[in-house]
Amino acid sequence: MSGTVQQNQQDITESEDSEFTRLIDQALSRRQFIAASGSLGLGISMAGFMAASPSAEAATSSLMGFKQVPASGADTVIVPEGYIAEPLISWGDPIFKDAPMFDPSGNAPSSAQERQFGDNTDGMSLFPLAEDRALLAINNEYTNYGYLFSHGGKPLTADEVKKAQAAVGLSVFEIARNNGHWDVVLGSKYNRRITANTAMELTGPAAGHDLMKTAADAEGRTVLGTLNNCANGQTPWGTYLTCEENFNGFFGSDDNFEQTADQKRYGLKSKDRYDWHKFDSRFDLSQNPNEANRFGWVVEIDPMDPQATPKKRTALGRFKHENAALTVNSDGHVVVYLGDDERGEHLYKFVSKQRYDANNASANRELLAEGTLYVARFENQDGELKGKGQWLELTQGKNGLTAENGFADQAEVLTFVRRAATQVGATTMDRPEWVAVHPSGKHVCCTLTNNKHRGKKDNQPVDGVNPRANNKYGQIVRWMPTDGNHVSDSFEWDLYLIAGNPAVHTEGLNAGSGNINADNMFNSPDGIGFDEAGRLWIQTDGKYTDEGDFAGMGNNQMLCSDPSTGEVRRFLTGPIACEVTGLAFTPDHKTVFVGIQHPGEKGKPSHFPAGGDSKPRSTVMAIRREDGGVIGA
Ligand code: FEO
Ligand code: CA
Ligand code: CA
Ligand code: CA
Repeated sequence: MSGTVQQNQQDITESEDSEFTRLIDQALSRRQFIAASGSLGLGISMAGFMAASPSAEAATSSLMGFKQVPASGADTVIVPEGYIAEPLISWGDPIFKDAPMFDPSGNAPSSAQERQFGDNTDGMSLFPLAEDRALLAINNEYTNYGYLFSHGGKPLTADEVKKAQAAVGLSVFEIARNNGHWDVVLGSKYNRRITANTAMELTGPAAGHDLMKTAADAEGRTVLGTLNNCANGQTPWGTYLTCEENFNGFFGSDDNFEQTADQKRYGLKSKDRYDWHKFDSRFDLSQNPNEANRFGWVVEIDPMDPQATPKKRTALGRFKHENAALTVNSDGHVVVYLGDDERGEHLYKFVSKQRYDANNASANRELLAEGTLYVARFENQDGELKGKGQWLELTQGKNGLTAENGFADQAEVLTFVRRAATQVGATTMDRPEWVAVHPSGKHVCCTLTNNKHRGKKDNQPVDGVNPRANNKYGQIVRWMPTDGNHVSDSFEWDLYLIAGNPAVHTEGLNAGSGNINADNMFNSPDGIGFDEAGRLWIQTDGKYTDEGDFAGMGNNQMLCSDPSTGEVRRFLTGPIACEVTGLAFTPDHKTVFVGIQHPGEKGKPSHFPAGGDSKPRSTVMAIRREDGGVIGA
């Protein structure tokens, strides 16, 4: 998130703690009033609901000093008064001196895209080089064929597949600041494209296993490429973590293809989204069924060394990874929280076997190679939207993960970890997206973005942490590790925020929690991160129809919240049909980089960022204050 990695150094001050308690008390007195006015649907009482949610009315945030922006349907990025938002880089901009400029015709060859910024910016991290110089590592999640090719459809030639493979992955490049304004350093020695064809090493328990072996890689240790790089993480030893999410959409087949149960669980099927298999047999599930086992991992990259081989970390499990929220526990174990973004999937935690040693850089480099993976079970009293929880260990031989139950070894547990999570009794969640650890280390938040299957599918009943059937708006769950110890098997949890529309729904959970009102409402929280001062930044990837259940919410947006009061304020609105995703602060917190992904998706009328009749392009924005102050303060 910020340039410095979160460790358990700062503590929430005494006054902040008691302030929080006071606010909860005020919320409780308000709740009695609301509870008296009638019970809610779903059999959940407002008592638990209000007890779980900080009151918005109770206090004004001391952390947030900006004036909220209204909801917007405009085709631009809007920031508060006194702020400046400028594009830093857009899809197709060159990052090497020999790269051509962006060609809007869609006819440019793969060789151009290989030397340009990839498509659909997502998670990103900043690595400082000096006060006014840094590297950005930025994911390029996927590509929109409607804009990538002049014909606007699926690839028609082998080079079009290669071009799509070069549009995804990630981009690393240097940036420099001059008078507050940041520019890309074209041709810096650090600049690098990592694509669906870059060689990477499999590490950890699944490396070299039969499940990883293919015709091209008999050893099962070398993979070409990374796919659907959604969000990210950053380590205190200076590496970048990129997370492979919907990799299944890149694999398909035209042949008769018998889908296994594991392929089904991971969404691998003959009809895919991108049609690469037609020109690249590596992505044909009939010909190379194991190739898909080599995706769905967290990948660790050294941004300082453009020659370094990225490492896929199989110890962190294979699923549709959203981000990787890393914290160093007080005992030195590295803990990584991980969401699996699919309806009814799970929330995970990795604990490293070895301990972080600030004086042993090379040993830290392999901390993510070995450790223990856990999955969350949330528990609550009937009618309460808070409770306790357990981390269930996912180790072969324990908790029913035995050969008789289909788990022959740890490689199989990790490769099909969704199945293992079901075996141990994990809670099915409303699509876990990003996780963020508060700088104090005392609490952790995860966005549960929405879930139309909740209350409809047998394995996804309405429960405390996922309290709405057909969840359209999403919520943010917060948990407190027992004794502040992230290695502990237990935690307490509540709902920090329940998104909703109080203008459309006057009662019940769809009105949202007490900190949501007609002026700050939104749907589908996705990207989140704490800055150094503890502000929680929330980005949305939701419905932008501005109608019906979503009336008054406008385009996707970024909000800020003060965890000590629960107050939420809208900070930014995005252009037409975009998602706001990815954020990175400079170490001085005077600039925040924010990603605008897929403006104009599905042919919607966006011309962001250039305006006029231009083709819409995914863009990273640099946002700063006119007075040079700290963002959000
Ligand atoms: Fe790539 Fe779940 O967002
Ligand atoms: Ca996301
Ligand atoms: Ca999303
Ligand atoms: Ca996305």
